[in-house]
Amino acid sequence: MKKKIALLLVSAMTVSGLVACGNSAAEEAPAAATEEAAPAEEEAAPAEEEASAEEEASAEEAAPAADGELIKVGFAQVGHESDWRAANTKNYQDTFSEANGYELSFVDCDNDHAVQIETVRGFIEQELDYICIAPIQSAGWDTVLQEAQDAGIDVLIVDRAVDADESLYTTALGCDMVAEGEAAGNWLAEYLNGEDAKILVIEGSVGASATLGRTEGFNNIVAQNSNWEVLDSQSGDFTQAGGQEVMESFIKSYSDFNVVVCQNDNEAYGAMDAMDAAGITYGVDGDVIIISFDATHDGLQYTLDGKITCNVECNPLQAGFAEEVIKKLVAGETVDKWTLVEDEAFVAPGIESAYAVTMSQEVLDGRAY
Ligand code: AHR
Repeated sequence: MKKKIALLLVSAMTVSGLVACGNSAAEEAPAAATEEAAPAEEEAAPAEEEASAEEEASAEEAAPAADGELIKVGFAQVGHESDWRAANTKNYQDTFSEANGYELSFVDCDNDHAVQIETVRGFIEQELDYICIAPIQSAGWDTVLQEAQDAGIDVLIVDRAVDADESLYTTALGCDMVAEGEAAGNWLAEYLNGEDAKILVIEGSVGASATLGRTEGFNNIVAQNSNWEVLDSQSGDFTQAGGQEVMESFIKSYSDFNVVVCQNDNEAYGAMDAMDAAGITYGVDGDVIIISFDATHDGLQYTLDGKITCNVECNPLQAGFAEEVIKKLVAGETVDKWTLVEDEAFVAPGIESAYAVTMSQEVLDGRAY
């Protein structure tokens, strides 16, 4: 299907790039994979009369569906565990809309690796044109990636990484999770300026490259600081409830700690609830430094308020990058094997850092997610 589309490509519509979206904490319960995967009926072709006026547009700007066929894209999403994920999902749904020339088969895999593998198999059986996978875990992908390749379907690994030979997929895009962990560690070393650190880590989901990368990166900096000690490191599954549960258990086991690293904002909210309940103070005026990841709107509000001292961004607005890749593939162009989605870190007001931007109301107001 996609090879035909590539040959028939002419421009007729404006295709959006990065699409800003609002923060959305509440996610609907996931539907069964087969239900959500059911593609919408084919939509009417884009207005023909617009086509001639825009035929001179470059291939890069051309709408992929100008021949009247929507490009079929499958997205096997991790789940709905966090505000970051909600923003990422909305960004894909906004970008790969029918108005933009796509038929998106979206599946919330509810953090279940087996469901995600079967979802991808379903996409292959449906002969979708392109498959995007945000891998729940990095291991266990070789077989199904080989199946997609055998079926001639381009696969985009998005957000997180897979532990598979790169010849098995077309391209990968996302943030550098190891660099995010190192940014957190470098900022902490700068902030502590030689003081001791007794650190508790609330990790993300087990086996996810976001967890593995942030842990590796942070530990790289721990290894450079002989007076830092990681007392414990447990998974909070990237959820607020998980963050709270792990923090409650840490509080029972450890009475002397001064740093809590939460591998996403939702875990940080849960950890703050647990510390509030235990009467432990945190933030720039408290006893415990909280480091978080994601830098979503609410996370940055807490950073602006001085509750989270450092928040390392992971940009969820990645669908525009995926669309650029697909547009190139449609046009028969070669694509990079890896596209980095850049991010930055933020620190509470009053802190100057070589590694992070000092939070302000202006920065928060400019936040799209
Ligand atoms: O893979 C990105 C991570 O997954 C985000 O940090 C987290 O919030 C999400 O669930």
